[in-house]
Amino acid sequence: MLSVREIDVYIQASHILRRVSLEVGAREVVCLVGRNGAGKTTTLRTIMGYLRPRTGRVELQGRPIHGRPTHEIARLGLGWAPEDSGIFPDLTVAENIEISTWTRPEGRPAAERIERAYRVFPGLRRYAARKGPEMSGGERKMLSIARALALDPEMLVLDEPFEGLSPAIIPAVSEGIAEITKLGHSILIAESNIHHVPEYTRRLYVIERGEIIFAGPPEDAWRDPALTRIIGSAA
Ligand SMILES: Nc1ncnc2c1ncn2[C@@H]1O[C@H](COP(=O)(O)OP(=O)(O)OP(=O)(O)O)[C@@H](O)[C@H]1O
Ligand SMILES: [Mg+2]
Repeated sequence: MLSVREIDVYIQASHILRRVSLEVGAREVVCLVGRNGAGKTTTLRTIMGYLRPRTGRVELQGRPIHGRPTHEIARLGLGWAPEDSGIFPDLTVAENIEISTWTRPEGRPAAERIERAYRVFPGLRRYAARKGPEMSGGERKMLSIARALALDPEMLVLDEPFEGLSPAIIPAVSEGIAEITKLGHSILIAESNIHHVPEYTRRLYVIERGEIIFAGPPEDAWRDPALTRIIGSAA
């Protein structure tokens, strides 16, 4: 599905990512875990086309996508929910979701996509007429994921979907994400808190100072004391 191969990314003169590689298969949930400043957002922004790798490749279903503009990457099937939610504050919840059906006209009919977005996060239905500033941070996070889903993408890319959420709301977001995988989409999640990695995560990557230092099942990461010193302290 998605393959990131040995990308090196610079921001101005700073070498931020070093030979980062990761894979996300069909219907897989993959987590990229690392401390603050480790390079998670830079990795996701490179996948989404906001940054261009100096070397290496990003492929979606075998097609190279690195260097393409973000709107093209979205149309090719990557739905994006950024760290700050990035919802349009002047639009209502319903309009925020609907706009994805125009951004990527290919895929299921618009009405079906909108219905799926609300089915995953039923709480949003009640707020359909509200605008961004009238919502809590947690509601905005859910809307951001719902909007990415309404694109009907092959894969969703979620940057810290649990960040800043109260413990009471985390299960609703986690269940929503699980529901999305049941609908057949792949998901790549960046997370700085290892305790937030959902139990249905198939594969985990740990990034530290711009380098992938672990790739494997989450259970194996927990068995490695050197690793738990790093990601355990990210909690
Ligand atoms: N626009 C920028 N200019 C210069 N340096 C940047 C810029 N954006 C990010 N960096 C640097 O790149 C490194 C990786 O940042 P990144 O945002 O990818 O980390 P992160 O893992 O997402 O962290 P967080 O958990 O805080 O979101 C950090 O050292 C950061 O200071
Ligand atoms: Mg980040």
